Amino acid sequence: KILILDFGSQVTQLIARRIRESHVYCEIHPYNMPLKDIKAFNPKGIILSGGPSSVYDVNAPKPPDEIYELGIPILGICYGLQLIAQHFGGHVDKAAEREYGRAELSILNEEDLFNKLQLSKGRLTVWMSHGDRIEHLPEDFEILARTDNAPVAAIRNRDKNIYAIQFHPEVAHTDQGKDILKNFILKICDVQPVWTPLNFVESQLEKIREKVGGKRVLCGLSGGVDSSVVALLLHKAIGDQLTCVFVNNGLLRLHEAEDVQRAFREHFKINLVYVDAEERFLKALEGVVDPERKRKIIGNLFIDIFEDEARKLGEFEFLAQGTLYPDVIESVSFKGPSATIKSHHNVGGLPEKMHFKLIEPLRELFKDEVREVGFQLGLDEKILHRHPFPGPGLAIRVLGDITRDKLDTLRKADYIAIEELRNHGLYRKIWQAFCVLLPVQSVGVMGDERTYENTIVFRAVTSLDGMTADWAHIPYNVLSRISNRIINEVNGVNRVAYDISSKPPATIEWE
Ligand code: XMP
Repeated sequence: KILILDFGSQVTQLIARRIRESHVYCEIHPYNMPLKDIKAFNPKGIILSGGPSSVYDVNAPKPPDEIYELGIPILGICYGLQLIAQHFGGHVDKAAEREYGRAELSILNEEDLFNKLQLSKGRLTVWMSHGDRIEHLPEDFEILARTDNAPVAAIRNRDKNIYAIQFHPEVAHTDQGKDILKNFILKICDVQPVWTPLNFVESQLEKIREKVGGKRVLCGLSGGVDSSVVALLLHKAIGDQLTCVFVNNGLLRLHEAEDVQRAFREHFKINLVYVDAEERFLKALEGVVDPERKRKIIGNLFIDIFEDEARKLGEFEFLAQGTLYPDVIESVSFKGPSATIKSHHNVGGLPEKMHFKLIEPLRELFKDEVREVGFQLGLDEKILHRHPFPGPGLAIRVLGDITRDKLDTLRKADYIAIEELRNHGLYRKIWQAFCVLLPVQSVGVMGDERTYENTIVFRAVTSLDGMTADWAHIPYNVLSRISNRIINEVNGVNRVAYDISSKPPATIEWE
């Protein structure tokens, strides 16, 4: 396995994803991971990530000095290159010109790191993002590549097995960046590419059985990808020792509650307890307008109901959760705490006082790996590739106060919009699409009648991680069909608008 030490780059997670895609297991840890922990981790290679600092800053983050003497191959990327250069007596300074974006890399040595790449005239397009550069090469290092602006863009010390590059091989803009990383991990570190979702499933089944023994496990099932994969994995490992609880909070999409029951109870034969809590949620939300209050009420009520059910179902030693790797990585941030814009309350997050031991079989996986595991376990394509759906559900898509009628209107419109995206082969190209019901009436005309009815907003965005997003450029004919169908088929709606705001400055959801 490979260890990635994080110095706070925005793209450190991409390094891990590229390596996992090459079927090698790796983990990201903070740059100051203690030496004894590094040794205990026993990596076959160490990668030093990029980061926003300068190595000559007084408080520049540094890894333990001893890592350079462990005899483990090291690859420094960007800030990592500068750390290595400085450690071995080179000189790093501000470049006359900062370099951001594409650059042409001239490769001077194709032996190991740049082995077997498809070059055009010895050159490769790479992605740069740096303000500092190496002015004097450290002793015993040789230059492997340069750009016009960075005469030292890649270096190595072959005896020590230390490599460093100024550009970012992990981003998609770097040509064959994955192959460069592969050269490092497979050839220089000599790791076998054996990490696959199938192997993962097999090793997890063993681990789960060992951990659970004869005890019972409770799992909150939402119907999303993560909890579904957790449920299937546990069911495969321990069968009827698993009980899943699905709470219908009345804020779900059309047919969602029936679909989940059909898939998990009837198809997979999982012990599924279905709790119809629609009345309780709608009552608790009556007259509530503020989005953050909606989130709190829903989150708390969910916990109360889940606890009640758990108690009724008897003794459980374990609670299974769909925690993923990005939630686990201790992030290194040099920018201080960021403002809370929305409390993204994870409705599945249950309080510690429940005294369960946790089982989190997906803690090591990225989302795309979870999907592959789900695929191996026979999970339906519809669930595997479902758009993200917020815990508070339709409550934050009926703007203003919530009633059952409004929810029903929204559900019908949303169903039509999604159905049309699927019919036109667009669903999988979009990160998230949904309808919102505005608390606004407007005038229309239907036949000879004046109408004064509701407005539906259709929102569809493209995104990689939900942090930033752009509105999807959906063909007019599809938008037109969605609009026509909603207005014709959903009573009480006479107007459909398409949201063309990006995030930032807007957010994906409207509340
Ligand atoms: P925003 O609206 O902040 O949403 O751009 C980013 C992503 O988070 C989802 N979201 C939520 N998920 N509980 C959740 O579990 C929430 O309260 C919540 N609010 C937003 C949103 O759907 C999008 O995928």
